[in-house]
Amino acid sequence: MTETSTPSPSEDSAQIAPLIPKVAEPKPPRVLAIANQKGGVGKTTTAINLGTALAAIGEQVLIVDLDPQGNASTGLGIDRRSRRCSTYDVLIGTAGLRGAILETAVPRLHIAPSTLDLSGLELEIGQARDRAFRLRSAITPLNIGKPDRMDYSYVLVDCPPSLNLLTVNAMAAAHAILVPLQCEFFALEGLSQLLRTVEQVKSTLNPNLTIHGIVLTMYDSRNKLSGQVVADVREFMGAKVYDTMIPRNVRVSEAPSYGKPVLVYDLKCVGSEAYLRLATEIIQREKELRAG
Ligand SMILES: Nc1ncnc2c1ncn2[C@@H]1O[C@H](COP(=O)(O)OP(=O)(O)OP(=O)(O)O)[C@@H](O)[C@H]1O
Ligand SMILES: [Mg+2]
Repeated sequence: MTETSTPSPSEDSAQIAPLIPKVAEPKPPRVLAIANQKGGVGKTTTAINLGTALAAIGEQVLIVDLDPQGNASTGLGIDRRSRRCSTYDVLIGTAGLRGAILETAVPRLHIAPSTLDLSGLELEIGQARDRAFRLRSAITPLNIGKPDRMDYSYVLVDCPPSLNLLTVNAMAAAHAILVPLQCEFFALEGLSQLLRTVEQVKSTLNPNLTIHGIVLTMYDSRNKLSGQVVADVREFMGAKVYDTMIPRNVRVSEAPSYGKPVLVYDLKCVGSEAYLRLATEIIQREKELRAG
């Protein structure tokens, strides 16, 4: 009887190792917080339409609605009844982020919707030690254990018009901040306060936080004041201001009442074109940030 030597378990695994397809490490998404404590400057419009434009050029995008007004959710056609699980549930810790995500009519664009409950969050978790990190902790496992096609490449957080705990959560979770600035007389008012908050968050909660860029919104070329505001903001903030400006365009303001991004409502209008250009510019800036 010939004796056959049984390979040891370690030899075994050495032989089969090359046969096991390598599972790619999940790549964490880039998290951009869309923030400005001024109301009505185009944060939500930018979250919806930049998200749609990024999805249209192949990115897998999640919008996190962090505003109790829920305008991003409504603007993407998510009615209140289907918001059974929302960002409120995620932040108080009774649900995971994946559990709150809903599909939108736009391929590759998903949303974690919000409800009015979110306005009570500060009262509920204001004393918790990890209160500023709830969103970050919810985003961290987002891409883990999901097939590649479900990996999000971008998370856009739509912030409320306030520098409250919700916005602080967004800033603590974000890689970078995107600031919409409306081309109006008081545009720069409040910007220094926003920049100071970013510095505070940077020194206490999130050392790598940067300003991704400033996007000028509701630009009206016929209005002399618009041109002056653009010149002032570019002088004050230099290269941080994106080349792309979003024009004031009635199609952009009509689209949310149909529950559609403007790119779906009217792809050819100047507003849609501008958001597509902005998406391309952001991807370009991302490459530069990674290279530098
Ligand atoms: N480019 C644009 N052209 C015309 N109207 C616009 C444009 N961008 C935004 N608007 C309109 O301006 C209003 C405010 O925009 P939006 O809701 O995006 O601002 P916001 O900063 O999210 O507001 P809030 O601070 O209340 O959350 C909305 O009625 C929106 O439709
Ligand atoms: Mg808004």
